[in-house]
Amino acid sequence: MFDALKDLSTEMIPAVEAEMRDVLKLKEKSDDQFYGMMHYHMGWVDEDLLPLEINGGKRIRPFLCLLACAAAGGDWIQAIPAAASIEIIHNFSLVHDDIQDASPTRRGRVTVWKLWGANQAINAGDAMFALAHTAMERLSTRGVMDSITILALRMLDDACLALTMGQYSDMQFEVRDDVSVDDYLSMIGGKTAALLSLSTELGAVVSGSEPEISDHYAAFGRDLGLAFQIRDDILGIWGDETIIGKSAATDIETRKKSLPVLYGLSKDEELRRLYREPETNDEFVDRVVEHLDSTGSREFAENYEKKYADSALAHLEAVSPHGDAGVALLQMTGRLLNRKF
Ligand code: IPE
Ligand code: IPE
Ligand code: MG
Ligand code: MG
Repeated sequence: MFDALKDLSTEMIPAVEAEMRDVLKLKEKSDDQFYGMMHYHMGWVDEDLLPLEINGGKRIRPFLCLLACAAAGGDWIQAIPAAASIEIIHNFSLVHDDIQDASPTRRGRVTVWKLWGANQAINAGDAMFALAHTAMERLSTRGVMDSITILALRMLDDACLALTMGQYSDMQFEVRDDVSVDDYLSMIGGKTAALLSLSTELGAVVSGSEPEISDHYAAFGRDLGLAFQIRDDILGIWGDETIIGKSAATDIETRKKSLPVLYGLSKDEELRRLYREPETNDEFVDRVVEHLDSTGSREFAENYEKKYADSALAHLEAVSPHGDAGVALLQMTGRLLNRKF
């Protein structure tokens, strides 16, 4: 049976992968330890820098970018550099995030900072930040007008600034007791939704869409990003570590104010006391999860996830996305909701 999502991902994801391998110099720098940290993180090589054929991440952002370009009536081939740039920025943010969150594993593998130390992981992340700009500049080699390429670079920097501010709030909230749901939503709007919004908006911009169309694509990506991060919060507590490929304890151990936790804290005095304890022993995470379960915190978060996924769909439907790519965007929104990884 024809499956728009599967068929288009088979075509589009390898194209982005090839572009990223080129920008991150997989061939020329195969023996280089510095580039090797980036190649390792991307899932292309193992820790001895020997080639790997594994899953380096879901590649959701670049796929959304190319689908949005096609669904808005453009030629997705032209948007490949933008898609590659966004995925490289995402990976820069993950390399730094794993240091900041003290995360030992990502995508089922040991994190870069655990292997090479935090200082070198910062360098690897910084290099990816710079190379993401190199990737974006390549739009002009695909026949995209210079004015659009410059706009894309500015949009990339705006999204990076929002992402960094979101990361700042995420960490500041660990030690704050007065975080509201609105504070949380604005934090994830920065750390996660800004980049998903950039993905879909830029796809539409490269297609040549007018702002009244690309604004809907931006709002679609933003709301999808909010739903996506809420699901990430749920998986960070109730997910199966062998499937999510990362720890289901570190969010609680680092006292993250994720959406289920915020709700639990507002309902449960004992949980408030527990969450303020500085020590984390073996039972700590289990006890917190028991309190979250008994207060219905998971259901509370799932209702928010559904609300943002519905709002994302409304923005998408408002612009009547074209063809198979339009069908795939609708399918993808449905599948991200309630995802297991
Ligand atoms: C993880 O993003 C970080 C968040 C913003 C939730 P993804 O779940 O897209 O990570 P990969 O790239 O597929 O590993
Ligand atoms: C990811 O946030 C957002 C960025 C990296 C900018 P999280 O810390 O919530 O994501 P995971 O759970 O580590 O993937
Ligand atoms: Mg984090
Ligand atoms: Mg993290």
